[in-house]
Amino acid sequence: MTRNLASGGYRIFSAIDPVGPDPSAGQFYMLASESGWGGAEGRPYLARAFSVADAERQGGGVRLDFLVQAVGPGTERLASLEASERLWITGPLGRPFAPPQEVQSDAAGAILVGGGIGVAPLAIWRRQLKRAGIPARVLLGFRDRENSGGLDLSDCSEVRLAGEDGHAGHRGYVTDLLAVLLEGDDATSAAVYACGPPAMLEAVRSLCTDRGVACELAMEAPMACGFGACFGCAVPLANTNGRHKNRGRTYMRLCVDGPVVRGEEIDTALVRGSGH
Ligand SMILES: Cc1cc2nc3c(=O)[nH]c(=O)nc-3n(C[C@H](O)[C@H](O)[C@H](O)COP(=O)(O)OP(=O)(O)OC[C@H]3O[C@@H](n4cnc5c(N)ncnc54)[C@H](O)[C@@H]3O)c2cc1C
Ligand code: FES
Repeated sequence: MTRNLASGGYRIFSAIDPVGPDPSAGQFYMLASESGWGGAEGRPYLARAFSVADAERQGGGVRLDFLVQAVGPGTERLASLEASERLWITGPLGRPFAPPQEVQSDAAGAILVGGGIGVAPLAIWRRQLKRAGIPARVLLGFRDRENSGGLDLSDCSEVRLAGEDGHAGHRGYVTDLLAVLLEGDDATSAAVYACGPPAMLEAVRSLCTDRGVACELAMEAPMACGFGACFGCAVPLANTNGRHKNRGRTYMRLCVDGPVVRGEEIDTALVRGSGH
């Protein structure tokens, strides 16, 4: 662990991975602190899943940034880490975001839609798109000031904000902003990428489906292992006329087949046990 900083209502902590490869945007790590985890104290016991919010190669390995919202024993422990403490890191894991043209052949750009702590994977994705010269419009929504932050927008020219309590930008949901954007003639010129609470993801999926716009959703499910062994993260696949789209399977394991999922792969993003 190298630092632990406040970022709005969230915290950003960083760790050096001395041996791992560079992660891609949308991938995640299983994290646990070396001390104060499991043992006689009980919870938290298993490692917890975290999207990588930024990564930069530097002396000694890859610096990984994570954004954390304290909602229970594991996230509270990680949010309180001191710079000198050590972390167990497993990753990078899972399927990352795909470039816009792979998601939708005529897409020249990207629309990024983030809700709450879901800004984490969009932060690194925005930087990677910028480096590749791909234009990205950013829509962010937060419940209130306490549940916001995590993204440095200083170099971001096209960003729109929504606050459910009216504390910033549009008063209402971030998906209201997306609906307006998708009304335009050039709606299909961008692929949509979203991460946030299940209800927000489902609204994004349904808006995009209605307008024929391709989208990728970074989803969450309870994850005990993070690499395909426990089936704790099973998510139902889309069912079209009794036939499941993904090689005849009914479920995917979100940790290996996701966490980034194409909108058309699922019937709903309202997955049992996901979100907090
Ligand atoms: C792929 C992935 C990426 C994630 N990225 C981030 C991130 O960047 N930053 C961040 O703060 N959190 C992230 N999470 C959520 C984080 O893993 C959970 O909040 C954490 O595991 C909760 O552990 P806890 O011990 O603090 O709380 P617990 O006591 O285990 O749970 C507290 C509350 O959170 C809910 N919850 C528990 N686990 C999950 C889960 N996996 N998904 C959704 N809700 C859960 C519970 O239902 C409960 O309401 C991610 C989850 C996944 C699956
Ligand atoms: S978390 Fe164990 S199989 Fe996905």
